[in-house]
Amino acid sequence: MKRFRWGMIGGGKGAFIGGAHRIAAKIANSYELIGGVFDVNFERAKEFAFEEDIDLKRVYPDIDAFITSENKMPSSERIQVVSIVTPNYLHFEHAKKLLSNGYHVICEKPVTLSSTEAVELKEIAIKKGLVFCLTHTYTGYPMVREMKRRIEAGDIGVIQRVDAQYLQGWVNPIIHGGNARLSVWRLDPKVAGISSCMGDIGVHAFNMVEYATGLMVKEVLAVLSTLKPENTLDLDGNVLLRFDENLTGVIRSSQIATGEENNIQISVYGTKGAFHWEQENPNILKMMHEGAPSEIITPGYDYLSSFARDSHVLPPGHPEGIYEAFGNLYKGAAMAIRGEQTVPGQFPGIDEGIRGMQFIEAAVRSNKEGNRWVSI
Ligand SMILES: NC(=O)c1ccc[n+]([C@@H]2O[C@H](COP(=O)([O-])OP(=O)(O)OC[C@H]3O[C@@H](n4cnc5c(N)ncnc54)[C@H](O)[C@@H]3O)[C@@H](O)[C@H]2O)c1
Repeated sequence: MKRFRWGMIGGGKGAFIGGAHRIAAKIANSYELIGGVFDVNFERAKEFAFEEDIDLKRVYPDIDAFITSENKMPSSERIQVVSIVTPNYLHFEHAKKLLSNGYHVICEKPVTLSSTEAVELKEIAIKKGLVFCLTHTYTGYPMVREMKRRIEAGDIGVIQRVDAQYLQGWVNPIIHGGNARLSVWRLDPKVAGISSCMGDIGVHAFNMVEYATGLMVKEVLAVLSTLKPENTLDLDGNVLLRFDENLTGVIRSSQIATGEENNIQISVYGTKGAFHWEQENPNILKMMHEGAPSEIITPGYDYLSSFARDSHVLPPGHPEGIYEAFGNLYKGAAMAIRGEQTVPGQFPGIDEGIRGMQFIEAAVRSNKEGNRWVSI
């Protein structure tokens, strides 16, 4: 099986999530890093490429230089798929240029700065027949996939409550640290977009809600907080969800929940039972039953769904984690690029990107307009 010639935009030296993408690509065993625009600083990009043993001729100062040079290569040498791991405001421009020129795209969330931009990307991807993978990482965990399949199979009956949270505390010292906030791009609306907390992490919780339940949220009512008037963007928020007249839910999300690390959790309650999963203990899926003891479900067993089994390589008791979850998305994207059959939920795509942007926009609007219900 040949590896795809793979490029990256962003993700160079010192970047947070770029390294996870490279490990994911390695785990998927379907990509070889050939070149890219690894850094906003060209010299640092070249240092990175040297350390990674990448041909310096394939290191570019910007996206236009990348496209001009790569397009001139024979198709047998040209980069085929590109991951975008830059700050949010660059995703749309880079994805649009890449898709328009025939490159498959793997993109970080939030996919763009608006749902209109996300819809435009979808149209280009469809027109060009290209794969677009959106790295909502947590959908790659085997126990999340097991939960999804069991909910689809009706194992907990009809869903009657959904409760999700994504709590972090890392912004707390920054926000109380004088001008420290000015060096954090996630707090700058020109770079991050219209929301910090909902845009950066609330959107993961929203994606998890729709992924796990298979249901679509129809309306949201948001109460967001900037904590201090000098902060432009929300740092904390509670968002009520309405799926239909009988089913509601909630997303609680914060970047100032002091002491919290990366605490994304979901509970889905049905008429017969419930599921609970949390990212900080990702190999445990708790299944609760009406009138019977709870079960603890863990990866690596034959009795799991084929989707969960295929998402975990090692035997039971050998914990896999975030890199493998990322790797599962990269595996799914590679299957789609090869034209192989994928299963529902194999990797999030541009539709999930559009939903995410609609969620962020609706939450911000609801908060601004007096905490009223806003449809998605
Ligand atoms: N899926 C997840 O779980 C997850 C986790 C973390 C971050 N993210 C997302 O990943 C993206 C990057 O976040 P991060 O925390 O790694 O950011 P970061 O600031 O650590 O890294 C950004 C990288 O982009 C590069 N860059 C900036 N401007 C550029 C330009 N014009 N051209 C080329 N490269 C440029 C920087 O040099 C750096 O290498 C964000 O959209 C973020 O929301 C997703």
